[in-house]
Amino acid sequence: MAKELLSRRDFLKFLGLNLALVSLDLSSCSRLLEDNFDFQAIDASQEDKLVLAPGFSYDIVRSWKDPINSFELFGTNNDYLAFFELNKNQALLWVNHEGIDTQYIKDHQEQRKSVGGSVIAIEKQKQKWQFSHNPELQEKYNCRYDANTPVTYSGPASQILGDYFGTLANCSGGITPWNTVLSCEENYNHFTKYYKWKNFKDEYYGWVVEIDPFNKNCLPVKHTALGRFMHENAATVLAKDKRLVVYMGDDTNDEHIYKYVSKNSYQEGQENPSKLLEEGDLYVAQLDSANKRGKWKILNLSDPKLAKKFSSQGELLIETRKAAKIIGATKMNRPEDIEVSPYDNSIFIAQTHNPNQNDKHGSILKIVEDQNDFTSPEFSYSYFLEGGEEAGLTSPDNLAFDNRGNLWVCSDVYGPDLWQADYKFAGNNSLFCIPLRGKEAGKVKRFASAPNGAEITGPCFSKDFKTLFLSIQHPGEFPSKSNWPTNSEPRSCVVAINLV
Ligand code: FEO
Ligand code: CA
Ligand code: CA
Repeated sequence: MAKELLSRRDFLKFLGLNLALVSLDLSSCSRLLEDNFDFQAIDASQEDKLVLAPGFSYDIVRSWKDPINSFELFGTNNDYLAFFELNKNQALLWVNHEGIDTQYIKDHQEQRKSVGGSVIAIEKQKQKWQFSHNPELQEKYNCRYDANTPVTYSGPASQILGDYFGTLANCSGGITPWNTVLSCEENYNHFTKYYKWKNFKDEYYGWVVEIDPFNKNCLPVKHTALGRFMHENAATVLAKDKRLVVYMGDDTNDEHIYKYVSKNSYQEGQENPSKLLEEGDLYVAQLDSANKRGKWKILNLSDPKLAKKFSSQGELLIETRKAAKIIGATKMNRPEDIEVSPYDNSIFIAQTHNPNQNDKHGSILKIVEDQNDFTSPEFSYSYFLEGGEEAGLTSPDNLAFDNRGNLWVCSDVYGPDLWQADYKFAGNNSLFCIPLRGKEAGKVKRFASAPNGAEITGPCFSKDFKTLFLSIQHPGEFPSKSNWPTNSEPRSCVVAINLV
């Protein structure tokens, strides 16, 4: 879609206007702290280090190939992170393992075991969260899900697919209100295109997978009602009537934004809440750029054009992208992460960039549903941020809100573009913090800079927001050279940073 972006001046004005909304919601947001998080922003860096703002330091929680129990190893290319508290000093961390760097993992069997996800128990010691060496915790919780793990399918396409095995390309994700993980399968096509896997059945991948981190004996479930595409993440929220709503982006140039609305409402403590991800409606966004308005178009056989093309809802969902195009879904500039603001219920969508539309630096789009109701069929939209040298940020990817009124944004410049031409100003991929209130509202402040070739992904806070966990993904990705974090081959790692 053509961009209609706010100038810096308009952007600040826009933020100012929105501060009223933020203020209104502060009283109902008990987790929002009064004191803001202050730090000295750092400049762009080309150091092969994880550079943090002055006064902060990190500890590595786990790295690729580290043991997580007596027989399994931590996977590679860690991305999405989710924190689940067990008690004040013990927690579980869910970790996605997305792709493979074939420079370092050549064997297909080893590749199969390096992707998917991990559950690891962590413990707080001396005020720091770290990997737990407690054998009982490891035995009970730590486990790997990979390309060989048996999985099951739910929803309309499950009758076509049956059961199968494997989850891979796990990019970002979400957490359900009943404390399970939604892990999103994104670039499953890389496994044949680049990694040359044989006998790969495309239709079994590109789904949202639900995993119970508290019970390693539960099979992962791929929920086909949420559609099949290059799923970036799954932002879950409960509507006013307690129906579950999931916002999702398809991370490819000119692809779309989707919304799923469950048929039934969620009740705390209900039996089998996962049913809410099996029965519901899937919609795709159609934007009207002249009026900055949008509609959610339903993807089912009630539409005559879709009924003509597909013989069942299952068939439609396996070919979600085709169905979206038939009903006129709007082409977007590579939707990455989507997060719902805890302050005013607006929906923030990172569009990373799109060479097809000559969009080099991307943007952050903001959707407000009509009547502030997540189940609404229509919405308004605006641009929250324009990427580029003026903003100091390009190619936004993962987003996260903290409890102090800040939006955290990770950048993802494609490896060969790092430090080149239009991206020279941006430095190594970084993590930025954008205050949404106070004297620095709207300022893009760099908090961390990644080692060479790496992306910072999966920003995730501990329950008390005192610790920030980050994935440092693919240091040394071609054509960069890195030997972070040790002096041997580069390794993706999860790190923990104390913020207070
Ligand atoms: Fe895996 Fe869309 O980043
Ligand atoms: Ca991403
Ligand atoms: Ca990305």
